[in-house]
Amino acid sequence: MNRSLANVLFGAFGATVAEIGGPDGAVGDLTVRSLTHEDAATMLAYARQVVFTPGYGLAVAQAQHEVRELADMLQERGVQVKYAIHPVAGRMPGHMNVLLAEADVPYDQLYDMDQINPEFPQTDVSVVIGANDVVNPVARHDKSSPLYGMPILDVDKAAHCIVLKRSMRPGFAGVDNELFYQEKTSMLFGDAKDSFKKLIEEVQQL
Ligand code: TAP
Repeated sequence: MNRSLANVLFGAFGATVAEIGGPDGAVGDLTVRSLTHEDAATMLAYARQVVFTPGYGLAVAQAQHEVRELADMLQERGVQVKYAIHPVAGRMPGHMNVLLAEADVPYDQLYDMDQINPEFPQTDVSVVIGANDVVNPVARHDKSSPLYGMPILDVDKAAHCIVLKRSMRPGFAGVDNELFYQEKTSMLFGDAKDSFKKLIEEVQQL
């Protein structure tokens, strides 16, 4: 690694990727920040608390075993790891619980929305794994949005938010996500399973 830890953790990392918009991604004039797997791994490895927030994309990627493996590695380094479970994440009731149980994620690390939302302001890094609608802040304030009024997971209240998904495409509701354009958010583009494999390799080298 040729950058200081402070630079990675607190600097303006990553490139702007406004050109990735196009027909599927409503980027317009807004700025989207991305980061490398190396920088993401460093942020996670040196965090005090990390909250993983899975959504439908976790099921598509079938990344639950890699998520568990990375969580184990982080915990061995002393990082507190928690999972935030939204009641309608995925496509069926209990979808996230089923996936994470397949990977033997300990039940006491799963937190429902009411339990975990007060913890985000004390969280160093929230990691959004293929979730979209359930973390879209427009639900709080945009009365014209179909998501308005739906309680969301407050991933944007963590010090940093890393979003793993393949593109800027919207989720089930077809609504652009303002989380992706916020200053504290960095996108880690790609299939979630591939990204987690790379993160595991990077953390192993730290
Ligand atoms: P969604 O809003 O549907 O977003 C899922 C995201 O996963 C997509 O934006 C997609 O982005 C990403 N994704 C897909 N494949 C991926 C992969 N291989 N790797 C990484 N990311 C991937 O999911 P959510 O946040 O879980 O919300 C659930 C939605 O479904 C809600 O609107 C809810 O109301 C609705 N719904 C839920 C249920 C139940 S009971 N759970 C039933 C019916 C409907 P990319 O394409 O850019 O990768």
